[in-house]
Amino acid sequence: MCGIVGYVGGTASAPILVDGLRRLEYRGYDSAGLAVHGPKSIEVRRAVGKLRNLETALSERPLQGNVGIGHTRWATHGRPSEVNAHPHVAGPVAVVHNGIIENHLELRKRLVEAGCKIASDTDTELVAHLVHLEVERGKDLESAVRAALGEVQGAYAIAVLSSLEPHRIVVAKSSSPLVVGLGDEGENFCASDIPALLPYTKKMLFLEDGEMAVLEASSVRVTTLEGKVVERAPRVIDWSPVMAEKAGYKHFMLKEIFEQPRALEDTFRGRLDRESGDIHGHEIGLSDDDARAIRRVVLLACGTSHHAALTGRYFLESLAKIPTTIEIASEFRGRDAVICEGDLVIAVSQSGETLDTLVAAKEAKAKGAKILSIVNVIDSAIPRMSDATFYTHAGPEIGVASTKCFSTQVANMLMFAIWLGRRRDALSADKAAELVEGLARLPQMMADVLTGTRQLVANLARRYVEARDVLFLGRGLSFPIALEGALKLKEISYVHAEGYAAGEMKHGPIALIDNRVPVFVLLPKDSHHERSLSNLQEAKAREAIVIGIATEGDEEARAVSDDLVEVPDVAEELTPFLTVLPLQLYAYYVADFKGTDVDQPRNLAKTVTVE
Ligand code: G6P
Repeated sequence: MCGIVGYVGGTASAPILVDGLRRLEYRGYDSAGLAVHGPKSIEVRRAVGKLRNLETALSERPLQGNVGIGHTRWATHGRPSEVNAHPHVAGPVAVVHNGIIENHLELRKRLVEAGCKIASDTDTELVAHLVHLEVERGKDLESAVRAALGEVQGAYAIAVLSSLEPHRIVVAKSSSPLVVGLGDEGENFCASDIPALLPYTKKMLFLEDGEMAVLEASSVRVTTLEGKVVERAPRVIDWSPVMAEKAGYKHFMLKEIFEQPRALEDTFRGRLDRESGDIHGHEIGLSDDDARAIRRVVLLACGTSHHAALTGRYFLESLAKIPTTIEIASEFRGRDAVICEGDLVIAVSQSGETLDTLVAAKEAKAKGAKILSIVNVIDSAIPRMSDATFYTHAGPEIGVASTKCFSTQVANMLMFAIWLGRRRDALSADKAAELVEGLARLPQMMADVLTGTRQLVANLARRYVEARDVLFLGRGLSFPIALEGALKLKEISYVHAEGYAAGEMKHGPIALIDNRVPVFVLLPKDSHHERSLSNLQEAKAREAIVIGIATEGDEEARAVSDDLVEVPDVAEELTPFLTVLPLQLYAYYVADFKGTDVDQPRNLAKTVTVE
């Protein structure tokens, strides 16, 4: 959570910093602030709430200067307020921070005893005071930061300025992400994530835990916290800045929903082997012998990624015939879960940073498991600790509610299951070839479903926008999609929604049903169709408003549904890719009609680096 950004170069820093923060706002938006080296000293502007409030403050009192740092906050220590907003200043030092300092109580006590006046409730201000004390002892900024961090326990990515050294920024990282952008023209940058820097440079250096860097206009020097010089070649990132823009859509979420066909094409590139009906699996990091030796797969994930992992369990059990368990990462942690010889752990995460997933995967690794990750953000923390990473290649996802990353995660789960199934002789060559062919055709089908159902779904959203409770039911592969449909609606429209296994409806949620409750029933023509149809009829008999998501030409579903959204007929394994689309659109339009903040819903953040 929280986003940090820094600029050192030959041009005014404030507009670049604000632009970077706009691209990082998905990480938190409780407050924002900048610190810039002015003509005489460091000047700070901070504002509670969205970035536009900071922009107003800056238009009233502009900041001049070519070196600066910025921050957008998701509150952890201390409520959202101006005094708790970053940057935090102590003497000549200003600090922005993403992470959590765990020993903050002890540090606060010690600093108060040393006579420091602490203005905020934050853990970050303590870092500013620690650095200031070291500067007062005569250290230069780099050494002062190094010494201060020696006293800090926890997660941090920090950027630090000192008015005594106005030409540089010192940055450091442990657990929280930090990317250094190398500019061409006497300028350098840092940020929490790649999209903030894309308009300025594609040459990026990813700092590792326990490293720091000194950024000046014409140099970047990376060292370990112990002072050892680190030589690392930058990576060139092939995301274009346009990928992180709205491209004419009203919201990032809508753009990302419509981007799914393109995102899937990128996910499939170089992986679908249509000639032999197989998957190219070299990135999976397992030999054919390794594949045969796996005894169990354990899937770890949170939120939407957990729903994608749930589809993975179906794929792995039915196509690769491998026992598969799935865990909410926060519940796996610290539970003494048993990891056995031959277990393969798969961590699924869009950001590659979710702390619960990261720590759960580390715990599994410490118990001897091999870790494969399915991640979108390149070189993020989870891929770095994994034995191999099967990237989703969805491109930057900015909307807090995940859409295209979900579809691409499901695609990777399915490709992995096909690959494993073939190697374990659990999946016939014909079935594999049919699925590979089906996957190759999916992007076009998804594009057709999106354009074909958009208006119908928008009309449904308009009609049921006032519903206070909404149910989503599905069986088999449609169960995770029901969960995902409910999560999308909750996240962005604040409507109470429940996703349920359709067969479980009679054990509870049926009591919620009356003639004001829309019930979405996912019943594509699959092996569960008849039973799902019965559940739909049970809901209808209790006067629910029933919306069927069914296969084209399903007259039985049409006869009993109040509204019907049709998707093309595909193999059972491919149905989630199509049925999820109307549910994403429904959540989007309900939120848009309600006027909620679609891309930045209240209380949420896209990247959750707290427990
Ligand atoms: C947050 C986001 C969700 C996401 C979840 C897991 O809650 O708002 O969209 O599904 O974190 O994130 P990850 O990056 O691990 O997929």
